[in-house]
Amino acid sequence: MKFISTFHISVLLFVLITFSACKESAPMVEDTAPVFDINKQVVSDSAMVVSAHPLATAAGLKILKKGGNAVDAMVAVHFALAVAYPRAGNLGGGGFMIYRDKTGISNTLDFREMAPSMAHKDMYLDTLGEIIDSLSLTGHLASGVPGSVEGMYVAHQKYGKLPWKELLQPAIDLAQNGLKVTEREVAAYNEHMWLFKEFNPHKNAFVKEAVWKKGDILLQKDLAEVLKRIQKEGRAGFYEGKTADLIVQEMKKTKGIISHEDLKNYKAVWRAPIQLEYKGYNIISMPPPSSGGICLAELFNMVEPYPMEKWGFQSAKSIHLFTEAARRAYADRTEHLGDIDFYPIPVEVLSSQAYADMRMQTYVDSIATPSDSISHGNPYAKESEQTTHYCVVDAEGNSISVTTTINSNFGSKVIVEGGGFFMNNEMDDFSSKPGVPNQFGLLGNEANAIAPYKRMLSSMTPTIVEKDGQFFMAVGSPGGSKIITTVFQVVTNVIDYQLPLKDAVHEPRFHFQWFPNLLYHEEGAFSESLLTELKALGHTPKSREAIGQVEAILRLPNGQLEGVSDIRGDDDARGF
Ligand code: DON
Repeated sequence: MKFISTFHISVLLFVLITFSACKESAPMVEDTAPVFDINKQVVSDSAMVVSAHPLATAAGLKILKKGGNAVDAMVAVHFALAVAYPRAGNLGGGGFMIYRDKTGISNTLDFREMAPSMAHKDMYLDTLGEIIDSLSLTGHLASGVPGSVEGMYVAHQKYGKLPWKELLQPAIDLAQNGLKVTEREVAAYNEHMWLFKEFNPHKNAFVKEAVWKKGDILLQKDLAEVLKRIQKEGRAGFYEGKTADLIVQEMKKTKGIISHEDLKNYKAVWRAPIQLEYKGYNIISMPPPSSGGICLAELFNMVEPYPMEKWGFQSAKSIHLFTEAARRAYADRTEHLGDIDFYPIPVEVLSSQAYADMRMQTYVDSIATPSDSISHGNPYAKESEQTTHYCVVDAEGNSISVTTTINSNFGSKVIVEGGGFFMNNEMDDFSSKPGVPNQFGLLGNEANAIAPYKRMLSSMTPTIVEKDGQFFMAVGSPGGSKIITTVFQVVTNVIDYQLPLKDAVHEPRFHFQWFPNLLYHEEGAFSESLLTELKALGHTPKSREAIGQVEAILRLPNGQLEGVSDIRGDDDARGF
Protein backbone atom coordinates (compact mmCIF):
# COMPACT_ATOMS: atom_id res chain seq x y z
CA MET A 1 0.00 0.00 0.00
CA LYS A 2 1.29 3.42 -0.92
CA PHE A 3 0.22 6.57 0.89
CA ILE A 4 0.53 9.85 -0.98
CA SER A 5 -0.96 12.64 1.05
CA THR A 6 -0.49 16.23 -0.01
CA PHE A 7 -2.47 17.08 3.09
CA HIS A 8 0.23 15.46 5.21
CA ILE A 9 2.92 17.31 3.38
CA SER A 10 1.23 20.68 3.75
CA VAL A 11 0.45 20.09 7.43
CA LEU A 12 4.06 19.06 7.97
CA LEU A 13 5.36 22.12 6.14
CA PHE A 14 3.05 24.36 8.10
CA VAL A 15 4.18 22.82 11.37
CA LEU A 16 7.84 23.10 10.38
CA ILE A 17 7.52 26.70 9.26
CA THR A 18 5.61 27.66 12.38
CA PHE A 19 8.11 25.78 14.51
CA SER A 20 11.18 27.32 12.93
CA ALA A 21 9.60 30.77 13.03
CA CYS A 22 9.10 30.58 16.78
CA LYS A 23 11.34 27.88 18.16
CA GLU A 24 10.55 28.78 21.75
CA SER A 25 6.78 28.38 21.48
CA ALA A 26 6.13 24.66 21.71
CA PRO A 27 2.34 25.02 22.33
CA MET A 28 1.93 26.50 18.80
CA VAL A 29 3.18 23.23 17.35
CA GLU A 30 0.65 21.21 19.32
CA ASP A 31 -2.10 23.49 18.14
CA THR A 32 -1.53 22.91 14.43
CA ALA A 33 -1.15 19.15 14.66
CA PRO A 34 -4.12 17.34 13.14
CA VAL A 35 -6.24 15.28 15.54
CA PHE A 36 -6.05 12.27 13.22
CA ASP A 37 -3.87 11.01 10.41
CA ILE A 38 -5.84 11.78 7.27
CA ASN A 39 -5.15 10.27 3.86
CA LYS A 40 -6.47 12.13 0.84
CA GLN A 41 -5.14 9.67 -1.72
CA VAL A 42 -4.28 6.01 -1.30
CA VAL A 43 -3.42 3.23 -3.76
CA SER A 44 -3.99 -0.34 -2.61
CA ASP A 45 -3.97 -3.84 -4.06
CA SER A 46 -7.32 -5.28 -3.08
CA ALA A 47 -9.72 -3.29 -0.90
CA MET A 48 -10.59 0.32 -0.13
CA VAL A 49 -12.82 2.43 2.12
CA VAL A 50 -13.36 6.18 1.70
CA SER A 51 -15.56 8.18 4.07
CA ALA A 52 -15.98 11.60 5.62
CA HIS A 53 -14.24 10.68 8.88
CA PRO A 54 -10.98 8.81 9.54
CA LEU A 55 -12.50 6.82 12.42
CA ALA A 56 -15.35 5.64 10.19
CA THR A 57 -12.92 4.71 7.42
CA ALA A 58 -10.85 2.81 10.01
CA ALA A 59 -13.96 0.97 11.26
CA GLY A 60 -14.75 -0.18 7.73
CA LEU A 61 -11.19 -1.23 7.07
CA LYS A 62 -11.10 -3.26 10.29
CA ILE A 63 -14.18 -5.20 9.17
CA LEU A 64 -12.70 -5.83 5.72
CA LYS A 65 -9.50 -7.10 7.31
CA LYS A 66 -11.53 -9.49 9.44
CA GLY A 67 -12.88 -11.02 6.23
CA GLY A 68 -16.06 -8.96 5.99
CA ASN A 69 -17.40 -7.94 2.59
CA ALA A 70 -18.34 -4.51 1.23
CA VAL A 71 -21.79 -4.59 2.84
CA ASP A 72 -20.37 -5.60 6.22
CA ALA A 73 -17.92 -2.70 5.98
CA MET A 74 -20.76 -0.40 4.92
CA VAL A 75 -22.68 -1.22 8.12
CA ALA A 76 -19.60 -0.56 10.27
CA VAL A 77 -18.86 2.73 8.46
CA HIS A 78 -22.48 3.88 8.66
CA PHE A 79 -22.78 3.38 12.42
CA ALA A 80 -19.29 4.80 13.06
CA LEU A 81 -20.23 7.93 11.09
CA ALA A 82 -23.36 8.25 13.25
CA VAL A 83 -21.01 8.58 16.24
CA ALA A 84 -17.98 10.39 14.83
CA TYR A 85 -19.67 12.63 12.25
CA PRO A 86 -23.04 13.50 13.81
CA ARG A 87 -23.68 16.48 11.52
CA ALA A 88 -24.60 14.00 8.76
CA GLY A 89 -23.80 10.45 9.80
CA ASN A 90 -26.91 9.17 11.43
CA LEU A 91 -29.41 6.84 13.01
CA GLY A 92 -32.17 9.44 12.66
CA GLY A 93 -31.93 9.90 8.88
CA GLY A 94 -31.96 7.88 5.69
CA GLY A 95 -30.16 7.28 2.44
CA PHE A 96 -29.55 5.21 -0.65
CA MET A 97 -27.19 2.34 -1.42
CA ILE A 98 -25.89 1.22 -4.79
CA TYR A 99 -24.52 -2.32 -4.64
CA ARG A 100 -22.57 -4.08 -7.35
CA ASP A 101 -21.40 -7.60 -6.68
CA LYS A 102 -18.22 -9.20 -7.96
CA THR A 103 -20.14 -10.82 -10.84
CA GLY A 104 -21.50 -7.49 -12.05
CA ILE A 105 -25.05 -7.76 -10.71
CA SER A 106 -26.22 -4.46 -9.31
CA ASN A 107 -29.05 -3.48 -7.01
CA THR A 108 -30.14 -0.43 -5.04
CA LEU A 109 -31.65 -0.02 -1.60
CA ASP A 110 -33.89 2.94 -0.83
CA PHE A 111 -33.83 3.68 2.91
CA ARG A 112 -35.07 7.23 2.45
CA GLU A 113 -37.16 8.75 5.24
CA MET A 114 -40.93 8.71 4.81
CA ALA A 115 -43.60 11.22 5.77
CA PRO A 116 -45.39 10.19 8.99
CA SER A 117 -48.96 8.90 8.68
CA MET A 118 -50.32 12.18 10.07
CA ALA A 119 -48.46 14.31 7.52
CA HIS A 120 -50.54 16.28 5.03
CA LYS A 121 -50.03 18.50 2.03
CA ASP A 122 -50.46 21.84 3.79
CA MET A 123 -48.75 21.01 7.07
CA TYR A 124 -46.21 23.81 6.76
CA LEU A 125 -48.70 26.51 5.68
CA ASP A 126 -50.51 29.08 7.85
CA THR A 127 -54.21 29.90 7.55
CA LEU A 128 -53.45 32.27 4.67
CA GLY A 129 -51.66 29.52 2.79
CA GLU A 130 -48.21 30.98 3.37
CA ILE A 131 -45.17 28.94 4.43
CA ILE A 132 -44.52 29.09 8.18
CA ASP A 133 -40.88 30.01 8.50
CA SER A 134 -38.48 27.16 9.50
CA LEU A 135 -41.23 24.69 10.39
CA SER A 136 -39.99 22.11 7.87
CA LEU A 137 -36.37 22.82 8.81
CA THR A 138 -35.98 22.85 12.58
CA GLY A 139 -37.81 21.26 15.48
CA HIS A 140 -39.90 18.12 15.86
CA LEU A 141 -42.26 18.60 12.92
CA ALA A 142 -39.36 18.72 10.44
CA SER A 143 -38.59 15.00 10.69
CA GLY A 144 -39.56 12.16 8.44
CA VAL A 145 -39.59 8.58 9.75
CA PRO A 146 -35.91 7.50 9.80
CA GLY A 147 -34.76 4.78 7.43
CA SER A 148 -31.06 4.26 8.14
CA VAL A 149 -31.20 1.47 10.72
CA GLU A 150 -33.68 -0.52 8.64
CA GLY A 151 -31.52 0.09 5.55
CA MET A 152 -28.38 -1.23 7.20
CA TYR A 153 -30.24 -4.19 8.68
CA VAL A 154 -31.99 -5.21 5.48
CA ALA A 155 -28.81 -4.84 3.37
CA HIS A 156 -26.88 -6.97 5.84
CA GLN A 157 -29.57 -9.65 5.89
CA LYS A 158 -29.37 -9.95 2.12
CA TYR A 159 -25.67 -9.57 1.44
CA GLY A 160 -23.73 -9.52 4.72
CA LYS A 161 -21.19 -12.16 5.69
CA LEU A 162 -19.95 -11.39 9.20
CA PRO A 163 -22.32 -11.46 12.20
CA TRP A 164 -24.33 -8.22 12.63
CA LYS A 165 -23.09 -7.88 16.21
CA GLU A 166 -19.47 -7.48 15.16
CA LEU A 167 -20.34 -4.66 12.76
CA LEU A 168 -21.86 -2.48 15.48
CA GLN A 169 -18.96 -2.86 17.89
CA PRO A 170 -16.62 -0.18 16.48
CA ALA A 171 -19.41 2.43 16.74
CA ILE A 172 -20.33 1.33 20.25
CA ASP A 173 -16.69 1.63 21.34
CA LEU A 174 -16.44 5.13 19.88
CA ALA A 175 -19.65 6.30 21.54
CA GLN A 176 -18.84 4.70 24.88
CA ASN A 177 -15.16 5.53 25.15
CA GLY A 178 -15.36 8.89 23.44
CA LEU A 179 -13.48 10.34 20.51
CA LYS A 180 -11.40 13.42 19.88
CA VAL A 181 -13.11 16.12 17.87
CA THR A 182 -11.41 17.70 14.90
CA GLU A 183 -11.09 21.42 14.20
CA ARG A 184 -13.85 21.25 11.60
CA GLU A 185 -16.22 19.43 13.97
CA VAL A 186 -15.44 21.91 16.74
CA ALA A 187 -16.33 24.80 14.43
CA ALA A 188 -19.64 23.12 13.52
CA TYR A 189 -20.57 22.34 17.16
CA ASN A 190 -19.80 25.89 18.31
CA GLU A 191 -21.64 27.45 15.39
CA HIS A 192 -24.76 25.38 16.06
CA MET A 193 -24.60 25.57 19.88
CA TRP A 194 -27.42 28.10 20.17
CA LEU A 195 -29.70 25.85 18.11
CA PHE A 196 -28.74 22.75 20.11
CA LYS A 197 -29.69 24.71 23.25
CA GLU A 198 -32.92 26.00 21.78
CA PHE A 199 -34.23 22.58 20.75
CA ASN A 200 -32.70 20.47 23.51
CA PRO A 201 -33.30 21.76 27.01
CA HIS A 202 -32.37 18.28 28.25
CA LYS A 203 -28.83 17.14 29.07
CA ASN A 204 -26.98 15.99 25.97
CA ALA A 205 -23.49 15.34 24.66
CA PHE A 206 -23.23 18.43 22.46
CA VAL A 207 -24.17 21.32 24.73
CA LYS A 208 -21.57 22.29 27.28
CA GLU A 209 -20.64 25.36 29.28
CA ALA A 210 -17.35 26.16 27.55
CA VAL A 211 -16.83 26.34 23.80
CA TRP A 212 -15.64 23.18 22.07
CA LYS A 213 -11.89 23.02 21.38
CA LYS A 214 -9.97 20.84 18.98
CA GLY A 215 -9.07 17.54 20.64
CA ASP A 216 -11.88 17.71 23.23
CA ILE A 217 -13.48 14.33 23.87
CA LEU A 218 -17.03 13.72 22.64
CA LEU A 219 -18.64 11.08 24.88
CA GLN A 220 -22.04 9.70 23.81
CA LYS A 221 -23.27 7.30 26.48
CA ASP A 222 -26.97 7.47 25.50
CA LEU A 223 -26.10 6.80 21.90
CA ALA A 224 -23.96 3.84 22.97
CA GLU A 225 -27.02 2.32 24.67
CA VAL A 226 -29.13 2.75 21.53
CA LEU A 227 -26.39 1.14 19.45
CA LYS A 228 -26.23 -1.77 21.89
CA ARG A 229 -29.97 -2.31 21.52
CA ILE A 230 -29.58 -2.29 17.73
CA GLN A 231 -26.66 -4.68 18.07
CA LYS A 232 -28.74 -7.07 20.17
CA GLU A 233 -32.16 -6.78 18.57
CA GLY A 234 -31.47 -5.67 14.99
CA ARG A 235 -34.07 -3.30 13.49
CA ALA A 236 -36.37 -3.84 16.49
CA GLY A 237 -33.72 -2.26 18.69
CA PHE A 238 -34.55 1.04 16.99
CA TYR A 239 -38.09 0.85 15.60
CA GLU A 240 -39.64 -0.86 18.62
CA GLY A 241 -39.16 -1.02 22.38
CA LYS A 242 -37.16 1.53 24.34
CA THR A 243 -35.63 3.47 21.41
CA ALA A 244 -39.02 3.85 19.71
CA ASP A 245 -40.48 5.04 23.04
CA LEU A 246 -37.72 7.66 23.31
CA ILE A 247 -38.35 8.93 19.77
CA VAL A 248 -42.11 9.17 20.25
CA GLN A 249 -41.71 10.89 23.66
CA GLU A 250 -39.32 13.36 22.05
CA MET A 251 -41.83 14.06 19.27
CA LYS A 252 -44.62 14.71 21.74
CA LYS A 253 -42.66 17.51 23.43
CA THR A 254 -43.85 19.95 20.76
CA LYS A 255 -45.47 19.40 17.39
CA GLY A 256 -43.84 16.14 16.28
CA ILE A 257 -46.11 13.57 14.65
CA ILE A 258 -43.96 10.42 14.30
CA SER A 259 -45.85 7.60 16.02
CA HIS A 260 -44.99 4.09 17.20
CA GLU A 261 -46.92 2.72 14.22
CA ASP A 262 -44.94 4.88 11.78
CA LEU A 263 -41.68 3.53 13.17
CA LYS A 264 -42.82 -0.07 13.22
CA ASN A 265 -44.13 0.13 9.67
CA TYR A 266 -41.07 1.74 8.10
CA LYS A 267 -39.75 -0.35 5.21
CA ALA A 268 -36.61 -0.02 3.09
CA VAL A 269 -37.26 -0.81 -0.61
CA TRP A 270 -35.08 -2.64 -3.15
CA ARG A 271 -35.31 -0.85 -6.49
CA ALA A 272 -33.87 -1.50 -9.92
CA PRO A 273 -31.03 0.95 -10.60
CA ILE A 274 -31.01 3.59 -13.32
CA GLN A 275 -28.40 2.46 -15.83
CA LEU A 276 -27.10 4.44 -18.76
CA GLU A 277 -24.37 4.14 -21.33
CA TYR A 278 -21.97 7.05 -21.63
CA LYS A 279 -19.05 6.87 -24.05
CA GLY A 280 -18.58 3.14 -23.48
CA TYR A 281 -19.07 3.28 -19.71
CA ASN A 282 -22.11 1.94 -17.86
CA ILE A 283 -23.27 4.34 -15.17
CA ILE A 284 -25.34 2.83 -12.36
CA SER A 285 -27.23 5.24 -10.14
CA MET A 286 -30.26 5.78 -7.94
CA PRO A 287 -33.87 5.75 -9.23
CA PRO A 288 -36.72 7.78 -7.64
CA PRO A 289 -37.37 8.82 -4.94
CA SER A 290 -33.91 10.13 -5.77
CA SER A 291 -33.73 12.57 -8.64
CA GLY A 292 -30.03 11.69 -8.93
CA GLY A 293 -30.13 8.85 -11.45
CA ILE A 294 -32.64 10.44 -13.82
CA CYS A 295 -30.98 13.88 -13.73
CA LEU A 296 -27.57 12.26 -14.29
CA ALA A 297 -29.01 10.35 -17.23
CA GLU A 298 -30.44 13.55 -18.68
CA LEU A 299 -27.14 15.40 -18.19
CA PHE A 300 -24.96 12.68 -19.69
CA ASN A 301 -27.34 12.10 -22.61
CA MET A 302 -27.55 15.82 -23.34
CA VAL A 303 -23.78 16.42 -23.38
CA GLU A 304 -22.71 13.16 -25.07
CA PRO A 305 -23.05 14.42 -28.67
CA TYR A 306 -20.61 17.27 -28.00
CA PRO A 307 -16.78 17.05 -27.93
CA MET A 308 -16.23 18.29 -24.38
CA GLU A 309 -12.84 16.58 -24.22
CA LYS A 310 -11.74 18.74 -27.16
CA TRP A 311 -13.19 21.92 -25.68
CA GLY A 312 -11.23 21.27 -22.49
CA PHE A 313 -11.67 21.06 -18.73
CA GLN A 314 -13.63 24.04 -17.40
CA SER A 315 -13.48 25.89 -20.73
CA ALA A 316 -16.25 28.43 -21.39
CA LYS A 317 -17.71 26.15 -24.09
CA SER A 318 -17.86 23.09 -21.81
CA ILE A 319 -19.32 25.09 -18.91
CA HIS A 320 -21.91 26.65 -21.22
CA LEU A 321 -22.99 23.23 -22.50
CA PHE A 322 -23.18 21.84 -18.96
CA THR A 323 -25.24 24.82 -17.79
CA GLU A 324 -27.73 24.48 -20.61
CA ALA A 325 -28.10 20.75 -19.95
CA ALA A 326 -28.53 21.34 -16.19
CA ARG A 327 -31.13 24.06 -16.87
CA ARG A 328 -33.26 21.53 -18.68
CA ALA A 329 -32.64 18.60 -16.31
CA TYR A 330 -33.51 20.62 -13.17
CA ALA A 331 -36.66 22.02 -14.84
CA ASP A 332 -37.74 18.41 -15.42
CA ARG A 333 -36.83 17.50 -11.83
CA THR A 334 -39.17 20.23 -10.57
CA GLU A 335 -42.16 19.02 -12.52
CA HIS A 336 -41.83 15.29 -12.95
CA LEU A 337 -39.94 13.78 -10.05
CA GLY A 338 -41.11 12.59 -6.65
CA ASP A 339 -41.82 9.27 -4.93
CA ILE A 340 -42.54 6.82 -7.72
CA ASP A 341 -44.74 4.76 -5.39
CA PHE A 342 -47.12 7.74 -5.24
CA TYR A 343 -46.69 9.53 -8.53
CA PRO A 344 -46.22 8.03 -12.00
CA ILE A 345 -42.79 9.00 -13.34
CA PRO A 346 -41.91 8.25 -16.97
CA VAL A 347 -38.47 6.97 -15.96
CA GLU A 348 -37.63 5.30 -19.26
CA VAL A 349 -38.52 8.30 -21.38
CA LEU A 350 -36.74 10.84 -19.15
CA SER A 351 -33.60 8.69 -19.13
CA SER A 352 -33.58 8.15 -22.90
CA GLN A 353 -31.26 9.64 -25.52
CA ALA A 354 -34.25 10.59 -27.67
CA TYR A 355 -35.73 12.69 -24.87
CA ALA A 356 -32.38 14.39 -24.22
CA ASP A 357 -32.04 15.17 -27.93
CA MET A 358 -35.52 16.65 -27.96
CA ARG A 359 -34.75 18.80 -24.90
CA MET A 360 -31.53 20.09 -26.47
CA GLN A 361 -33.20 21.20 -29.72
CA THR A 362 -33.35 24.71 -28.26
CA TYR A 363 -29.68 24.66 -27.22
CA VAL A 364 -27.63 27.45 -28.79
CA ASP A 365 -23.88 27.34 -28.41
CA SER A 366 -23.47 31.11 -28.45
CA ILE A 367 -25.95 32.29 -25.84
CA ALA A 368 -27.50 31.15 -22.56
CA THR A 369 -31.20 30.33 -22.62
CA PRO A 370 -33.04 32.49 -20.09
CA SER A 371 -34.37 30.15 -17.38
CA ASP A 372 -37.80 31.84 -17.65
CA SER A 373 -38.11 30.59 -21.19
CA ILE A 374 -37.27 26.99 -20.29
CA SER A 375 -39.88 24.99 -18.60
CA HIS A 376 -40.07 21.27 -18.01
CA GLY A 377 -40.27 19.03 -21.04
CA ASN A 378 -43.17 16.80 -21.85
CA PRO A 379 -42.05 13.20 -21.44
CA TYR A 380 -45.62 12.04 -21.94
CA ALA A 381 -45.79 13.56 -25.45
CA LYS A 382 -45.26 10.44 -27.59
CA GLU A 383 -47.23 7.98 -25.60
CA SER A 384 -47.24 9.20 -24.51
CA GLU A 385 -36.62 14.55 -9.45
CA GLN A 386 -25.40 17.81 5.49
CA THR A 387 -25.31 14.60 4.01
CA THR A 388 -22.35 12.30 3.64
CA HIS A 389 -21.09 9.74 1.18
CA TYR A 390 -18.91 6.67 1.59
CA CYS A 391 -17.77 3.90 -0.70
CA VAL A 392 -16.18 0.51 -0.21
CA VAL A 393 -14.63 -2.09 -2.49
CA ASP A 394 -13.84 -5.41 -0.83
CA ALA A 395 -11.14 -7.94 -1.64
CA GLU A 396 -13.64 -10.11 -3.57
CA GLY A 397 -14.55 -7.23 -5.87
CA ASN A 398 -17.99 -6.34 -4.42
CA SER A 399 -18.59 -2.63 -4.17
CA ILE A 400 -21.00 -0.23 -2.49
CA SER A 401 -21.67 3.46 -2.90
CA VAL A 402 -23.86 4.99 -0.18
CA THR A 403 -25.12 8.52 0.41
CA THR A 404 -26.88 9.14 3.71
CA THR A 405 -28.29 12.23 5.35
CA ILE A 406 -30.27 13.98 8.03
CA ASN A 407 -30.59 16.81 5.46
CA SER A 408 -29.18 19.98 7.04
CA ASN A 409 -26.13 20.03 9.27
CA PHE A 410 -27.38 18.22 12.43
CA GLY A 411 -30.81 17.71 10.80
CA SER A 412 -33.71 19.25 12.70
CA LYS A 413 -31.27 20.05 15.58
CA VAL A 414 -33.46 17.88 17.82
CA ILE A 415 -31.45 15.32 19.80
CA VAL A 416 -33.69 12.50 21.03
CA GLU A 417 -33.60 12.76 24.82
CA GLY A 418 -32.08 9.60 26.28
CA GLY A 419 -31.11 8.44 22.78
CA GLY A 420 -28.42 10.97 22.00
CA PHE A 421 -28.95 11.07 18.22
CA PHE A 422 -30.09 13.86 15.92
CA MET A 423 -33.38 13.61 14.02
CA ASN A 424 -33.54 14.54 10.34
CA ASN A 425 -35.26 17.58 8.82
CA GLU A 426 -35.94 15.74 5.59
CA MET A 427 -39.57 16.99 5.34
CA ASP A 428 -38.07 20.15 3.81
CA ASP A 429 -37.17 18.10 0.74
CA PHE A 430 -40.89 17.90 -0.10
CA SER A 431 -42.41 20.80 -1.97
CA SER A 432 -44.34 22.52 0.86
CA LYS A 433 -45.93 24.87 -1.64
CA PRO A 434 -45.60 25.00 -5.45
CA GLY A 435 -43.31 27.82 -6.55
CA VAL A 436 -41.68 28.28 -3.13
CA PRO A 437 -38.08 27.03 -3.07
CA ASN A 438 -36.78 24.76 -0.32
CA GLN A 439 -33.46 25.26 1.50
CA PHE A 440 -31.55 24.28 -1.64
CA GLY A 441 -33.51 26.70 -3.83
CA LEU A 442 -35.28 23.72 -5.40
CA LEU A 443 -38.83 24.07 -6.64
CA GLY A 444 -41.45 21.33 -6.82
CA ASN A 445 -45.01 20.62 -7.76
CA GLU A 446 -47.61 17.90 -7.33
CA ALA A 447 -45.10 15.08 -7.94
CA ASN A 448 -43.29 16.03 -4.73
CA ALA A 449 -46.22 17.25 -2.62
CA ILE A 450 -46.47 15.91 0.95
CA ALA A 451 -48.61 12.82 1.58
CA PRO A 452 -48.68 10.25 4.41
CA TYR A 453 -46.02 7.51 3.99
CA LYS A 454 -44.63 9.23 0.89
CA ARG A 455 -40.87 9.66 0.44
CA MET A 456 -39.56 13.16 -0.23
CA LEU A 457 -37.63 13.70 -3.47
CA SER A 458 -33.88 13.54 -3.02
CA SER A 459 -30.83 14.67 -4.98
CA MET A 460 -28.56 12.05 -3.44
CA THR A 461 -26.70 10.33 -6.25
CA PRO A 462 -24.61 7.38 -5.09
CA THR A 463 -23.08 6.03 -8.29
CA ILE A 464 -20.98 3.14 -9.57
CA VAL A 465 -19.43 3.17 -13.04
CA GLU A 466 -18.51 0.03 -14.99
CA LYS A 467 -16.25 -0.39 -17.97
CA ASP A 468 -16.09 -3.54 -20.07
CA GLY A 469 -18.25 -5.32 -17.51
CA GLN A 470 -15.83 -4.55 -14.67
CA PHE A 471 -15.95 -2.19 -11.71
CA PHE A 472 -14.45 1.13 -12.79
CA MET A 473 -15.41 3.74 -10.21
CA ALA A 474 -17.57 4.44 -7.14
CA VAL A 475 -18.44 8.04 -6.39
CA GLY A 476 -20.85 10.26 -4.46
CA SER A 477 -21.17 13.48 -2.49
CA PRO A 478 -23.28 15.60 -0.17
CA GLY A 479 -24.46 19.06 -1.28
CA GLY A 480 -28.26 18.99 -1.67
CA SER A 481 -29.18 20.07 -5.19
CA LYS A 482 -25.45 20.31 -5.98
CA ILE A 483 -24.90 16.58 -5.51
CA ILE A 484 -26.02 15.68 -9.03
CA THR A 485 -23.81 18.24 -10.75
CA THR A 486 -20.89 17.34 -8.45
CA VAL A 487 -21.10 13.65 -9.36
CA PHE A 488 -21.49 14.59 -13.02
CA GLN A 489 -18.34 16.73 -12.89
CA VAL A 490 -16.20 14.11 -11.15
CA VAL A 491 -17.24 11.44 -13.67
CA THR A 492 -16.69 13.69 -16.69
CA ASN A 493 -13.39 14.89 -15.20
CA VAL A 494 -12.22 11.27 -15.31
CA ILE A 495 -13.91 10.06 -18.52
CA ASP A 496 -13.84 13.14 -20.75
CA TYR A 497 -10.98 15.23 -19.44
CA GLN A 498 -8.82 12.27 -18.38
CA LEU A 499 -7.88 13.90 -15.08
CA PRO A 500 -6.20 11.74 -12.44
CA LEU A 501 -8.77 10.87 -9.77
CA LYS A 502 -7.14 13.18 -7.22
CA ASP A 503 -7.56 16.20 -9.49
CA ALA A 504 -10.99 15.06 -10.61
CA VAL A 505 -12.10 15.23 -6.96
CA HIS A 506 -9.99 18.12 -5.64
CA GLU A 507 -10.26 20.62 -8.51
CA PRO A 508 -12.76 23.48 -7.96
CA ARG A 509 -16.37 22.86 -8.98
CA PHE A 510 -19.36 24.77 -10.27
CA HIS A 511 -23.13 24.27 -10.23
CA PHE A 512 -26.28 25.28 -12.07
CA GLN A 513 -29.90 24.29 -11.36
CA TRP A 514 -32.31 26.26 -13.60
CA PHE A 515 -33.58 28.45 -10.76
CA PRO A 516 -32.02 30.50 -9.33
CA ASN A 517 -30.56 31.49 -12.70
CA LEU A 518 -27.02 31.72 -11.29
CA LEU A 519 -23.92 29.84 -12.33
CA TYR A 520 -22.37 29.07 -8.95
CA HIS A 521 -18.65 28.43 -8.73
CA GLU A 522 -16.32 27.81 -5.84
CA GLU A 523 -14.30 30.81 -4.83
CA GLY A 524 -11.37 31.32 -7.18
CA ALA A 525 -12.53 28.53 -9.49
CA PHE A 526 -12.96 30.70 -12.57
CA SER A 527 -10.27 33.07 -13.87
CA GLU A 528 -11.17 36.67 -14.77
CA SER A 529 -11.01 35.86 -18.47
CA LEU A 530 -13.27 32.81 -18.08
CA LEU A 531 -15.75 34.90 -16.09
CA THR A 532 -15.77 37.48 -18.89
CA GLU A 533 -16.40 34.78 -21.51
CA LEU A 534 -19.22 33.25 -19.48
CA LYS A 535 -20.87 36.63 -18.92
CA ALA A 536 -20.64 37.32 -22.67
CA LEU A 537 -22.51 34.04 -23.24
CA GLY A 538 -25.30 35.33 -21.02
CA HIS A 539 -24.51 33.53 -17.77
CA THR A 540 -24.49 35.07 -14.32
CA PRO A 541 -21.58 33.57 -12.39
CA LYS A 542 -21.67 33.77 -8.60
CA SER A 543 -18.96 32.72 -6.20
CA ARG A 544 -19.90 30.55 -3.22
CA GLU A 545 -18.38 28.26 -0.59
CA ALA A 546 -17.49 24.60 -1.18
CA ILE A 547 -19.60 22.57 -3.60
CA GLY A 548 -19.88 18.94 -2.55
CA GLN A 549 -17.51 16.74 -0.53
CA VAL A 550 -16.65 13.78 -2.69
CA GLU A 551 -15.45 10.26 -1.88
CA ALA A 552 -14.34 8.13 -4.80
CA ILE A 553 -12.65 4.83 -5.62
CA LEU A 554 -11.18 4.09 -9.06
CA ARG A 555 -9.85 0.84 -10.50
CA LEU A 556 -6.50 1.64 -12.10
CA PRO A 557 -5.42 0.03 -15.41
CA ASN A 558 -3.12 -2.35 -13.47
CA GLY A 559 -6.04 -3.56 -11.35
CA GLN A 560 -5.05 -1.67 -8.19
CA LEU A 561 -7.58 0.52 -6.42
CA GLU A 562 -7.14 4.24 -5.92
CA GLY A 563 -9.12 5.90 -3.13
CA VAL A 564 -9.47 9.67 -3.02
CA SER A 565 -11.20 11.68 -0.31
CA ASP A 566 -12.11 15.33 -0.62
CA ILE A 567 -9.90 18.14 0.65
CA ARG A 568 -13.11 19.97 1.52
CA GLY A 569 -13.48 18.04 4.80
CA ASP A 570 -11.78 15.60 7.21
CA ASP A 571 -12.47 12.87 4.65
CA ASP A 572 -10.13 9.90 4.66
CA ALA A 573 -9.20 6.99 2.37
CA ARG A 574 -7.62 3.71 3.48
CA GLY A 575 -7.00 0.41 1.78
CA PHE A 576 -4.92 -2.74 1.77
O1 DON B 1 -31.82 14.21 -0.14
C1 DON B 1 -31.41 15.30 -0.48
O2 DON B 1 -31.31 15.65 -1.63
C2 DON B 1 -30.96 16.27 0.59
N1 DON B 1 -31.68 16.02 1.80
C3 DON B 1 -29.50 16.17 0.78
C4 DON B 1 -28.98 17.15 1.79
C5 DON B 1 -27.55 17.46 1.62
O3 DON B 1 -26.87 16.96 0.77
C6 DON B 1 -27.00 18.47 2.56
N2 DON B 1 -25.56 18.52 2.44
N3 DON B 1 -24.89 19.37 2.03
